Amino acid sequence: MIILLTGTPGTGKSTISPLLADKLGCQLVDVNHLVEEKHLYTGLDPEKNYKIVDMEALEDELSQIVSNQDDQKGDSSKGCIIIEGHLSHYFPRADLVIVFRTEPKVLGDRLQKRDWKESKVRENLEAEALDICTWEAHQIHGSRVHEVETTKITPEETIDIILDIVNGKKSFPVGEIDFSGYLGC
Ligand SMILES: Nc1ncnc2c1ncn2[C@@H]1O[C@H](COP(=O)(O)OP(=O)(O)OP(=O)(O)O)[C@@H](O)[C@H]1O
Ligand SMILES: [Mg+2]
Repeated sequence: MIILLTGTPGTGKSTISPLLADKLGCQLVDVNHLVEEKHLYTGLDPEKNYKIVDMEALEDELSQIVSNQDDQKGDSSKGCIIIEGHLSHYFPRADLVIVFRTEPKVLGDRLQKRDWKESKVRENLEAEALDICTWEAHQIHGSRVHEVETTKITPEETIDIILDIVNGKKSFPVGEIDFSGYLGC
């Protein structure tokens, strides 16, 4: 089983992913670490000062990790992999995609604690209000995408919700969350 955990920075992917991987007995792949470790970038964005990820190389690397695990486990009992990071939804193979969502004002409080430029924080809050990750994920993965809002719940409650989704007890299809009010719409 391949589970992708995506969402705007600060929505909770890295907080949740190790705990979830532990509960489900899944291998965890952190896309940000992988990009650093394997140098999967083509350069630096001169204005924004962040790395430009080589998306083709990232997909190749993730495919390799998935097929290595398939080889180890054998075809009859394929293992479980959680791939987390705000680019994870670009990986085209997935059984389940969880997009973490956070109300932009609360997300702003979380991102202000990081040593980020005001413009970078604002850009990410706008992306969250515009549902960017959700719609990108939905274009690639359709009904396999669920949205989980972490605005007012604890990490433990978030994990319980995701376990219910994995076990088919609950469903949170795309389209229920609307943060457009943040943009003054
Ligand atoms: N229900 C929740 N689930 C997850 N995180 C939560 C929740 N409620 C509050 N938080 C807090 O939100 C923050 C999320 O930060 P985290 O580093 O996990 O985000 P991220 O999505 O991995 O960001 P990035 O894409 O930059 O790596 C943490 O400080 C965490 O304690
Ligand atoms: Mg993270």
